[in-house]
Amino acid sequence: MTTLPRLRLGVNIDHVATLRNARGSNYPDPLRAARLAEAAGADGITAHLREDRRHITDPDIAALSAALTVPLNFEMAATAEMQAIALRHRPHAVCIVPEKREERTTEGGLDVAADEARLANFIAPLRDAGCRVSLFIGHEPRQIRAAARIKAAVVELHTGAYCDLHHAGRLAERDTERAALARGATLAHSLGLEVHAGHGLTFDTVAPIAALPELRELNIGHFLIGEAIFVGLKPAIAHMRQLMDAARTKAG
Ligand code: PXP
Repeated sequence: MTTLPRLRLGVNIDHVATLRNARGSNYPDPLRAARLAEAAGADGITAHLREDRRHITDPDIAALSAALTVPLNFEMAATAEMQAIALRHRPHAVCIVPEKREERTTEGGLDVAADEARLANFIAPLRDAGCRVSLFIGHEPRQIRAAARIKAAVVELHTGAYCDLHHAGRLAERDTERAALARGATLAHSLGLEVHAGHGLTFDTVAPIAALPELRELNIGHFLIGEAIFVGLKPAIAHMRQLMDAARTKAG
C-alpha cells in the first residue's frame, strides 16, 4: 500500500485566549494549551494576533516564541505594526491573512492579485529574516499565480466554504468546492509553492481535505478547542491526527 507524505498538524490556540479574555482572567492559558498540543503530537502551533487583540495578545506571542519546542506559525494582517512584531520574534512561519475588524473570523482569502506590489514589498523583509511566508488565499488560479510571482514559500488554501457547505448539507456544491481546492493544490504545487489548508475543519470534514496529495500541513483550531470541552485537548488532537493519517493512507 502506498501512503502519501505525512501531513503536519498545526494546532491553532486562539480560542483558548478567547475564553480567557471573556472573563478578563489569566486562565485558561494559551501557552499551557500549546504545551499540551505539543505533547499530543501537534507539529506546530498557530496563533493569530489580531489588530483588536480579541484573543491572542502581545504577551502571548512573546511567551509562545520563548517557550515552544515546535514551530510557531504567526498569523497576522499585512500591516506595519504586525510586520514589526514578526521581525522582533522571527517565528518559524508567518501566515498573512486578510483582516476586517467587524468580522467574526477570517472570512475570505487574501486578494494577492489585487495587491501584488505592496505584498511583495511587505513579505520581503520577513523572508530575509528567515520566516517562511505563507499567504492565506482561496483556490482561484489568479491568486495562486500571484502568490508564486511574489515568491511566497507557502499558500494556505481556505477550506471555510467547503466546511460550511458540508454542514449546510449542500453536498453537490461541497464536492464542487473540494474539486476546486484539489485543482488549486495541484497548481500551487506545480509552481513550487508548499501547500497548506485550513479553516473550519472538523472530524467530519478533515478526511477529504487531508487526502489531497499535494498538501503538507493543516491548521485547525476552533473545532479542536470546542471538542476539548467534552473529551480533553489531547484526545481531541490525537483523534484528528488519526483521521489525517488514515486519509493519507487510504488516498495513497
Ligand atoms: N488557518 C488560518 C489562516 C486561519 O485564519 C484560521 C483561523 O484563525 C485557521 C487556519 C484555523 O481555523 P479554525 O479555527 O476554524 O480551525
